[in-house]
Amino acid sequence: MSVEVLEKAKAHFEDIVKGQIERVERMKQAQDWLDFSTLKPIKVGVCWGDGIGPIISQETQRLLEYLLKDEVKEGKIQFVPIEGLTIENRVKHNKAIPDDVLEELKACHVILKAPTTTPEKGGPYPNIESANVAMRRELDLFANVRPVKVPKDGIDWMFFRENTEGAYILGSRGIQATEDIAFDFKVITKQGAERILRMAFDYAQKNNIDNITVVTKANVIKTTDGLFLETAERVAKDFPGITWEGWYIDIMTAKLIDPRRRTQFHVIVLPNLYGDILTDEAAEFQGGVGTAGSANIGKRYSMFEAIHGSAPRMMKEGRGNYADPSSLIRAAAMMLRHIGINEKAEKLEMSLDVCGQYERKLVITGRTNSASARDYCDYLLETIKKPNLKQKWEEYTK
Ligand code: IPM
Ligand code: MG
Repeated sequence: MSVEVLEKAKAHFEDIVKGQIERVERMKQAQDWLDFSTLKPIKVGVCWGDGIGPIISQETQRLLEYLLKDEVKEGKIQFVPIEGLTIENRVKHNKAIPDDVLEELKACHVILKAPTTTPEKGGPYPNIESANVAMRRELDLFANVRPVKVPKDGIDWMFFRENTEGAYILGSRGIQATEDIAFDFKVITKQGAERILRMAFDYAQKNNIDNITVVTKANVIKTTDGLFLETAERVAKDFPGITWEGWYIDIMTAKLIDPRRRTQFHVIVLPNLYGDILTDEAAEFQGGVGTAGSANIGKRYSMFEAIHGSAPRMMKEGRGNYADPSSLIRAAAMMLRHIGINEKAEKLEMSLDVCGQYERKLVITGRTNSASARDYCDYLLETIKKPNLKQKWEEYTK
């Protein structure tokens, strides 16, 4: 056995542990939530992304420009285009997020972000870290909130995916110890688990939901997932009106396709990777990942995005213009809610429900024999402008 291999691995691990101790110290420093009611303008950074990103961004922007005409004119909202978050520029700087782009992001209050290409090992790009993952970490966006709703099937789920640690936090810092042996790491901290669990319990309490599902694989991944579960037990004591149940990720994945059982889940809270996987499955019931938005929330910053990636397969097959923009539009609606523009957020959401789940005058599937992103957005715009939108939505969903 080579002493050098061991020493290198030890030094690497020591470095990781030190970094995590520092991160926990930062988490312990209480920080206040940003108060949007005192900000003028609220600066919304917009990143167009790669692949299908620019296509679905353009459509989202069209809707936002229509809806927020007054707010922009009155200087209440300012859109700030952020150009540099493209795979070409990231490769050029060999960084997940180039420094000047990070500064631009940090000068905004909220960010609307289209999908960006995530290089993989052995692919055409250098294996730099995902821009999403880096942004979530750099801006401490610890909660990934992902709603999935299919009212006609009784599905109403709110996922709280832990967004800064778990299997993701050191995703680019594994150890290839020898040619034969590779390690990755998973990190859960008491503080990290507590803040996401607390957010889920708070949400349940505010929305009169009396049961929470905590998903782990603590029977096998005993130390980290064990800490997540232990923390759930502790946090739950502060919410006596709410019961909670632990589920393992494997059976949870199965039960999501059980039509009777799945309607009994409401608020689901889980570590990062399980949340990544389960929310893609969940979105499929709603019409696919192209219909699902997500909010990445931290105390100071927040970022809103589609739950999917830049769809290189669609681009390669020439189907980019047929990408469903609903995911990013849903994210934009979540953003409007987050900054307190509730009525317009509601309009946007109602038009997505009416067009995508009920009326379906145009159907968008991502294939070239269905509606294009542009036509679909025209349909959404036309629907938003209808004075009886709310009435229609209420009739459909009652
Ligand atoms: C998501 C995406 C990202 C993730 C990718 C693009 C890095 O799948 O937001 O769920 O794994 O978190
Ligand atoms: Mg995902």
